Amino acid sequence: MDDNSPLALVTGASSGIGFALAEQFAGHGFRLVINAEDDRLEHAARRLRDAGADVRAVRADLREPAGVDRLVAATTGLDVDVAALNAGVGQGGAFVDTDLADDLSVVDLNVVSTVRLAKPLLRRMVRRGTGRMLFTSSIAAMMPGAFQPVYNASKSFVQSFAQALQEELKDTGVTVTSFLPGPTETDFFRRAGMADTKIGSQDKDDPARVAEQAFEAVMKGRRKAVTGSLKTKAQGAADRVLPDGAKAVLHRRMAEPGTAQGGDGRP
Ligand SMILES: NC(=O)c1ccc[n+]([C@@H]2O[C@H](COP(=O)([O-])OP(=O)(O)OC[C@H]3O[C@@H](n4cnc5c(N)ncnc54)[C@H](OP(=O)(O)O)[C@@H]3O)[C@@H](O)[C@H]2O)c1
Repeated sequence: MDDNSPLALVTGASSGIGFALAEQFAGHGFRLVINAEDDRLEHAARRLRDAGADVRAVRADLREPAGVDRLVAATTGLDVDVAALNAGVGQGGAFVDTDLADDLSVVDLNVVSTVRLAKPLLRRMVRRGTGRMLFTSSIAAMMPGAFQPVYNASKSFVQSFAQALQEELKDTGVTVTSFLPGPTETDFFRRAGMADTKIGSQDKDDPARVAEQAFEAVMKGRRKAVTGSLKTKAQGAADRVLPDGAKAVLHRRMAEPGTAQGGDGRP
């Protein structure tokens, strides 16, 4: 692969949707800078290289300002054509029961690191007059997340942030796309401690399909895409019209501990 190939940066690329996004970019001829926090990143980089991709792996904990700085520094002097700010974690459970440190960790990664990274990357893109920014939002952004409140609020932030930037940057040559997956088969729910919930235990969307649709959306410069199965798209459409109170009740039924199929029998 030569240096004239386009370059994509993907955060949270060691697994799940981020890895599938990296595969999409690689499959379409992009060089890659990929990031995650732990050593699974090297394994992901090897898999992508084995498939022929030109990959640079940058391990950095994006919850830490120094981790964001390290990742930004790793792209200094490179023209990032697409930046996919995807790293994110959840935290299930009643707000009064969860550890404050875990709640704040969700904010630090999903919200603070997104802002920290977007600033220098977008400044460079605007200076060049070209670039594409892709934010991993969620259909959770549209629902008050009873029993996952900080996570849903963090995705509402990402969604609002992306839409505001779309307006600010519309005449700059830089496009901003947010995509909204529904429940997707990744490590997300296990890591969020939600294996005993209905949403954590039900059938979910294929991350490869989600990433394919997200890739298409960002390359077409679309502003927003609900990605995944028809069921997810239907849920996204319903979320646009349902009252917030009703959505909070529905979310409780999916996310309250003990709602797993075969759990305590709650609906
Ligand atoms: N799965 C779903 O149902 C779903 C639905 C809607 C939106 N999303 C969003 O999709 C994105 C990807 O999640 P996923 O479902 O693919 O889950 P996942 O498989 O758990 O992937 C999360 C990725 O984020 C990375 N990450 C976690 N903490 C990090 C940190 N401190 N610094 C840097 N990277 C870190 C992980 O790498 P490490 O191994 O280094 O921790 C991993 O690569 C998230 O933003 C999530 O909110 C997921």
